[in-house]
Amino acid sequence: MCGITGYIGYDEAAPILIRALKKLEYRGYDSAGVAVIDGEKIFVRKMKGRIELLDKSLLEAPLSGTVGIGHTRWATHGEPSDINSHPHTDSEGRIAIVHNGIIENYVKLKQWLQSRGVVFRSDTDTEVIVHIINYFYRASGGAMLDAVLETLKLLNGSYALAILSSDYPDRIIAARKDNPLVAGLGKNGVFIASDIPALLEHTRDVIFLNDGEVAVLYRDHIELRGGDGEALKRETTHIDWDIDSAEKGGYPHFMLKEIFEQPKAMSDALGPRLKKDASANAIIDFDEVKLDERWTQARRIVITACGTAYHAGIIGKYAFERLARVPVEVDIASEYRYRDPVFDRNDVVIVISQSGETADTLAAMRLAKQNGAQVFAITNAPGSTLSREADAVIYTYAGPEIGVASTKAFTTQVMCVYLLALELGRLRGCVSAPAYRRYTAALSAIPNQARQILDKKELLQRFAARHFNKAKVFFMGRQFDYPVSMESALKLKEISYTHSEAFAAGELKHGPIALVDSSTLVAAIATQRALFEKIASNIREVTSRGAASLVITWQGVDSFDTVSDEVFTLPETEGCLSPLLSVIPSQLFAYYCAVQRGNDPDKPRNLAKSVTVE
Ligand code: F6R
Repeated sequence: MCGITGYIGYDEAAPILIRALKKLEYRGYDSAGVAVIDGEKIFVRKMKGRIELLDKSLLEAPLSGTVGIGHTRWATHGEPSDINSHPHTDSEGRIAIVHNGIIENYVKLKQWLQSRGVVFRSDTDTEVIVHIINYFYRASGGAMLDAVLETLKLLNGSYALAILSSDYPDRIIAARKDNPLVAGLGKNGVFIASDIPALLEHTRDVIFLNDGEVAVLYRDHIELRGGDGEALKRETTHIDWDIDSAEKGGYPHFMLKEIFEQPKAMSDALGPRLKKDASANAIIDFDEVKLDERWTQARRIVITACGTAYHAGIIGKYAFERLARVPVEVDIASEYRYRDPVFDRNDVVIVISQSGETADTLAAMRLAKQNGAQVFAITNAPGSTLSREADAVIYTYAGPEIGVASTKAFTTQVMCVYLLALELGRLRGCVSAPAYRRYTAALSAIPNQARQILDKKELLQRFAARHFNKAKVFFMGRQFDYPVSMESALKLKEISYTHSEAFAAGELKHGPIALVDSSTLVAAIATQRALFEKIASNIREVTSRGAASLVITWQGVDSFDTVSDEVFTLPETEGCLSPLLSVIPSQLFAYYCAVQRGNDPDKPRNLAKSVTVE
C-alpha cells in the first residue's frame, strides 16, 4: 500500500514532499522517490530504502522547484529496487507519475506498448500508465487532461495517481479508483496525498476524491472532473482529528482498520487472477505460477507455515482435498524442519508466510528445496527472503499489515489458496464447468459479503462488552469451521490475553468438556449445513453445563435460535468457501475484547510482527 504526495505552490516542493511522505510511513514501504519540475524539466530522485536516505540525498544535492510529486512504494510487481521505485517517467522524461494500486491488465498493455517500440525500464505495472499517457498525449497533439482520461479508460484494476508534465508546469493531475486520494488548499499552495496526515500541517479543509474522479491542482485552486472530463463541485470537509488518529484513517487502532480493509484486500488478491476467457467465462489464471503437470500430476501437496499462516494452510488442506482430490499434508514449519519428514520429488510444497521472513518457515522451505522439492510461496512481502528463495511466488496483495495480529494477511492467504485449489480441481477434472462457474461467482461476491459483516460490527462489540471477562473461551467447529475455530482462538488469546482454545466439535466429549463451566464462553462456527444438527447438540452439551454460547452461522438459519444465547449471521456463500467470511466476526470479537480489557490490540505483549528467530 504505497503513499502518494503532491504539491504545487510557492515554496520549495522537495522538503514539503519529504515531510508528507514521512506522515505516510505507517502505510509501509520499501522505497521512496520524488519528481520536481525545475523550469521546464522534470528531475527525479528515487531509491530503495528508508525515506531518510532520500532526504539525505536531497539535502546533499537539492532538487529545486515549486511543483512536485512524491511516493513511498510497497512493492507488488517487481522487487524493491531503485529502478522499480516511483516516480516513473515516459521515455523522454517529460511526464512523471506516482501510482498506488494494481493494474491487472498491465501485461497486455505492456505487450501492446512494446509492439509500438516502447522500451521498459522497470518491472512495475505502473510504468505502462506513463507510456500510455504519453501515447495519447502525442496523439492528441498535447491535450494532457484528455490523454489522462483516455488512459484511465484502458486500465483495469485499482489506482491512485499523481501526474506531472514538464509541458504544463502549472498543474498536477490526480485520479483515483479504489485507492484513496485527498486534496487540500493551503496558504502556500495545493496538496494531494493518499491520506489526511500528509496534509494536516498545511490545511484541515480537504476534498476527498471519489472513484472515477480526476483532480487538476493549480497553485491556488483545485478543479474536480468526472471520468468524461465534466466539471464537478465538491464541498470541503473539515478535519478535526488529532494527527495520531488521522494516521489510522480515523480508526482507533491499525488492527480495526486492517479488519475493515479486508473487502478491498480480498478483492485485490482475487482481481488479477480471476479473468475472462475468449467466451467471457470466468477463469482463474495466475500470471506468476503455471499449474503445469507438476501440479496436476502431484500425488501429494505439502503445506508448511507458522501461526495464522498455518491456519490458512489447514484451510488449504480442506480446500485442495475437497476441490482437487489431492491428498494434503499440513505441517507447522518448526515441526516440519525437525521431524525428519518423508520427501517425494513429486510433491508440490507450498510455504505460506505474511512477512516472508519467519525463521522456521524459511528453514522449512530450505529443507524442502534441499530434498528436491519445488517450493511455491504465498506471501505478502515482495523482496522478502521467502520470495527470493522460493521457486515461484504468489503475492497476497494485502498491503502492509501494521497490527501485530494478522487479519487481512490471513484472509488474502486463504483467498489465494482457494484460487489454487479451484483451478487445480478444474484441471484435474474434479470440478465440473457449472460448479466452477458457481465457485468463481461466489468468490467474486465475497468482498461485498465481507462488507455486510463489517456493517454489523456493533453486535460483536456489544457481545464482547458482556463476555470479555470470561475465564475461558473455546471455539469449536467441524470441517471448514475447524481451522476457523483455531484462528479465532489464536486471535483472541494473542490480543485479549484470555485463555482460549479451539477444538474440532466432535472432540468435545473426548476431553475438552471437562473444562466447561459457568466461567466459559463457547463459540461455535456453524456453516456446514450437513452438520448443523451435530453442532446444535454440542452447544446443548456446553450450555447445560453453564457455559455461555455464541453461534456464527448463515442468515436465515434458525437451527440455533433456541439452543444458543447469541447467534451472529453471515451472508451465505458456498460451504467450502465459508472461512473467508466466518473468520471476520471472530476477529472483531477478539479486537473488542482486547479493547474492553484495556489492552493495545496493535502491540500485544510479548509478540513481534515478524518472528525472525527461532
Ligand atoms: C498471529 C500472527 C502470527 C503469524 C506467524 C507467522 O496473528 O500474526 O501467528 O501468522 O508468526 O508469520 P508469517 O506469516 O509472517 O510467517
